[in-house]
Amino acid sequence: MSGFNLTEAQKKQITDLLAQMTVEEKVGQMHQLSPSIVGGFDVSFEELIEMVTDGRISNEEFGRIMANAERDFHEDDIRAGRVGSYLLNDPKKANELQRIAVEETRLGIPLIYGFDVIHGFRTTFPIPLAEACSWNEEVFEASAEVAAREASAHGINWTFAPMLDIARDARWGRISESAGEDPHLGSVYARAKVRGFQGKNPADRERIATTIKHFVAYGAAEAGQDYNTVSMAKSMLHNSYLPPVKAAVEEGAMTVMAAFNDYNGVPCTVNSWLLRDVLKESYGFEGFVVSDANAIRECVSHGIAEDLADASRKAVNAGMDMDMGSGTYSAHLAQQAADGEVSAEVLDEAVRRILTVKMALGLFDHPYVEEERMARYDGELDKKHRDIALDAAKRSIVLLKNDGILPIEKEQKIALLGALADDGENCLGAWNADGRGSDCVTVKAGLERAGISVTYAACCDTTSGLNRQELDGAVKDADVIIAVVGETNAMSGEASSRADITLPGHQRELLEAALATGKPVVALLMNGRPLALQWEQEHVPAILECWQLGVTHGDAAAAVLLGEYNPSGRLCATFPAMTGQCPRYYNHPNTGRPGSKSKFTSRYLDAPLEPLYPFGYGLSYANYLYSDLTVEESGESFRVSVSVANTGDRAGEETVQLYIRDVAGSIVRPVKELKAFKKVTLAPGETKQVTLTLNKTDMGFYNDDMEYCREDGSFLFYVGGNSRDCLEAERKVVFSQNV
Ligand code: BGC
Repeated sequence: MSGFNLTEAQKKQITDLLAQMTVEEKVGQMHQLSPSIVGGFDVSFEELIEMVTDGRISNEEFGRIMANAERDFHEDDIRAGRVGSYLLNDPKKANELQRIAVEETRLGIPLIYGFDVIHGFRTTFPIPLAEACSWNEEVFEASAEVAAREASAHGINWTFAPMLDIARDARWGRISESAGEDPHLGSVYARAKVRGFQGKNPADRERIATTIKHFVAYGAAEAGQDYNTVSMAKSMLHNSYLPPVKAAVEEGAMTVMAAFNDYNGVPCTVNSWLLRDVLKESYGFEGFVVSDANAIRECVSHGIAEDLADASRKAVNAGMDMDMGSGTYSAHLAQQAADGEVSAEVLDEAVRRILTVKMALGLFDHPYVEEERMARYDGELDKKHRDIALDAAKRSIVLLKNDGILPIEKEQKIALLGALADDGENCLGAWNADGRGSDCVTVKAGLERAGISVTYAACCDTTSGLNRQELDGAVKDADVIIAVVGETNAMSGEASSRADITLPGHQRELLEAALATGKPVVALLMNGRPLALQWEQEHVPAILECWQLGVTHGDAAAAVLLGEYNPSGRLCATFPAMTGQCPRYYNHPNTGRPGSKSKFTSRYLDAPLEPLYPFGYGLSYANYLYSDLTVEESGESFRVSVSVANTGDRAGEETVQLYIRDVAGSIVRPVKELKAFKKVTLAPGETKQVTLTLNKTDMGFYNDDMEYCREDGSFLFYVGGNSRDCLEAERKVVFSQNV
């Protein structure tokens, strides 16, 4: 655990502070604010929100209006010790308000500044769903380290990341913020992100605290509809949704954000079983829990609290330490403490946790952002950071289909189609922290920077009709057509679920018209979720999934299109064949009637049995051949080896994946579970023996009583380049009881 190595003197300082604090000051520490918007635009704030929701103004316009709004920074509340934390991205203002907290309050306790730094700060990295397709913990860690360096220079002490929700439903807009559907890959991602943001010592001035969010099972929102209800067995929760949380706690993550949703009828915000029993007691989490935005107040709408006072009481008693933005604690807690509805112990525990994080972050010693760092990342993009982003972007791209068109020869004449091909803003993806569209290299610019001159025509965007004339003009002399199609930033992320995950608008018509020319067509996808691409798979000869890759989007896409980088990304989330298959994920529990050609099996009448692209899938310009699977038991582990040969004519990087299946258990087990993976680079014609180790302690599961069970019996071992195409071996396993 790296987060909380406080000295005895620091611990004493916290105890002394607690002894001096009034109840109001304690409640102040539990109150997080952001500047209030008090005007500066022609319509009411509510109407502005409606306007962006119904499309009267674009997201970008909304952002611009908000940036110019008049704000109240609540200086008097800070001065009175009524604020413990602030949601802000403005270094000068951060120092100004911090000065009030440190120099003008009675006890001088610094504020902690939080912000959503999700995939980079100014140097915007691929969206998490894309980056997770790199299956590369060095990439995960490096991008977080860069983000921490840049964000901390802007006065930010704490990021509301990593988002560790297991996401199995592509309709859910927030799948873009996640590392996909798998608990093992999600746990590797979780650990790397905590290391990347916090470093060995989070008090280092270029590091920031992390937030495990959203706790928990938000990704299982019913029907993929955002904020929706979640019901699931505790065993499912423990086996599939909690592993990344546990991994991040073990790695020293300093805070946790409770999810908006209810879990089995109790909103996570007031769920003491989750917050106290699982997180704080069972996992030994030492940091503090923050609510999601306004979530304590929303307990009234949930129907779990009668009024705001009830919501405040329920949340604090359940172990919710900090109120993000709802003002419920500041309005009610002090009185509730005076009335004995909230005990001194409950209050002190929350405040101790908050002060512990502030102390571990070094805020008592250096509360301000240094003047000389403030503007460091406001000018040109940092070259080193951009290089790291480019590496991540290339590794995030997944080649979904290639009928031999790719890579493209430099001499070929290219027609580039689609408004997204020339749109910097939409390379940023949802939850862009401080990125700018103008920093982003578009696909058009990327190809041009690589020395390719393209004939470009927008033809249509994600909503408009197809302009055939433009298309005809652009494709006339082309050897190859590249159509950039997909989603805008606003089509994924929070409050952006889709009930139909095919290509939006008229983009399929664009592809049809391009195909009608008889010329080779590449569909280059830019999107924030798995899409339903059954038609595209049937008709378009090459499909390249580029997601939203951030500032180096076009450079990375060009490198792959031209074969300068051999694609190595592997899907971290299943692509269903059609929307009706959602939620679709590889590691599902089996049924008594597994889907097959026969009628009375688990299947749809009007959909294929299989998803379109399975978890772990991704092609390369090389070919990898697996053979000679061996499984050797050695003490408390298994050594699983396989030969992987590159039978192609290009060097490449393969991701060798090990899955297991517990053939029969006391509860139904998943049909496959990823347990380990390894990257291997292979020259053309080269064969390597790859060995993966599986510890027997990782072969069990949790039952509904939260007991970890390891049951003797048959296990299947699968090794392959994706979750579908694997070599297979069976072993009887006997577990020793003392592990
Ligand atoms: C989101 C969180 C985010 C918070 C603060 C909420 O709406 O659910 O993920 O961290 O806002 O911006």
